[in-house]
Amino acid sequence: MIFATTCVSASEGFARPADPARDMGAIADLIEVAFGPELAQTGNTLVADMRSLAALGPLLTVVEHVAPFVGGFVWEQDGRVVGNVTATPENPATGRWFVSNVAVHPAFQGRGIGRRLMEATLEGIRRRRGRCVVLQVRTDNEPAQRLYRRLGFRRFDTVAELIRPGLLPSRTRPHVPGMRRLGSDDWQELLDLARAATPREVQQVRPIEAQAFRPTLGRRLQEWFNSFLSGQQTIRWGILEGNRLVAAVSILAQGAAGTARLDLAVRPEARGPLEAPLADYGLAALADWVPHAVASTVSTSHAEALQALQGRNFTTLRSLDQLILDLPS
Ligand SMILES: CC(C)(COP(=O)(O)OP(=O)(O)OC[C@H]1O[C@@H](n2cnc3c(N)ncnc32)[C@H](O)[C@@H]1OP(=O)(O)O)[C@@H](O)C(=O)NCCC(=O)NCCS
Repeated sequence: MIFATTCVSASEGFARPADPARDMGAIADLIEVAFGPELAQTGNTLVADMRSLAALGPLLTVVEHVAPFVGGFVWEQDGRVVGNVTATPENPATGRWFVSNVAVHPAFQGRGIGRRLMEATLEGIRRRRGRCVVLQVRTDNEPAQRLYRRLGFRRFDTVAELIRPGLLPSRTRPHVPGMRRLGSDDWQELLDLARAATPREVQQVRPIEAQAFRPTLGRRLQEWFNSFLSGQQTIRWGILEGNRLVAAVSILAQGAAGTARLDLAVRPEARGPLEAPLADYGLAALADWVPHAVASTVSTSHAEALQALQGRNFTTLRSLDQLILDLPS
């Protein structure tokens, strides 16, 4: 258990630290009913994964001891879990925590349970020397937006999750001047591109670390393992001007009938003419894997990428505001 604070009581029920070994199954049920069809719509396997973990029962305590993966608070009422907030350390070095699975059973919403659970969680994080908390919320989720606003969260980015269902027509890849396949030796150029293409406010919250790009033996083994186990493969191409990478497209293919990914990165000063040919190139390359759908995530600050993907039959599944709250020390 990550938190061991005292319970926060209320007349109708109380908040207590979540105990994965005891609560995992109830939290899975709650998330299913609170989020409803959104989980299926976004292809989220969270509930199924939680139920598999719940089957471990008391063994979960041992697993969690090795790798703390779930913390936060539940709201208990008449011996039943009707609310949950999950908190995970996202970057222990900087004290950044991630909050997710904020859910109150529909029959208990609007009674202040969500707010009290969030307050208990934020206090728990602060006591664990957390310095800030990030979370994401649908742009159109008015109750949740209101809850987070009242607690002092502010928006630092909005991302659109896009999906392009259906098979891709097999196409030849377009000729894109200056384009070449990128390999592990290009990590420094990819790092520079990511830093240039990511909004400053986002990097203030989540700095782009060189170690996430530097090829290591561990990362190569992981890629090899993923490719061996599930046929998963990541391939990148970039447009270079001299030694400078101005734009890149990356695809993640995972064998026939899976959902593939396509992501674009373009330096701000080069935006406009490059997104469409990069998307076409990536989609043509993906056609070889026969995916049943292609997903992409784009910051709404990159309007040209959104436009290029929408012009290629991608539709927005949901738009997610990224919020942050700095905690008092
Ligand atoms: C979001 C959610 C957790 C809020 O829990 P809750 O217990 O109903 O919230 P509270 O009663 O503590 O109210 C918190 C704020 O939301 C507002 N709110 C609650 N229900 C609302 C509704 N249906 N419409 C508009 N605002 C609403 C309250 O007025 C309150 O704001 P206020 O303090 O300015 O008055 C709950 O609605 C829920 O589980 N929704 C489904 C899952 C979900 O969307 N989770 C959030 C994912 S980021």
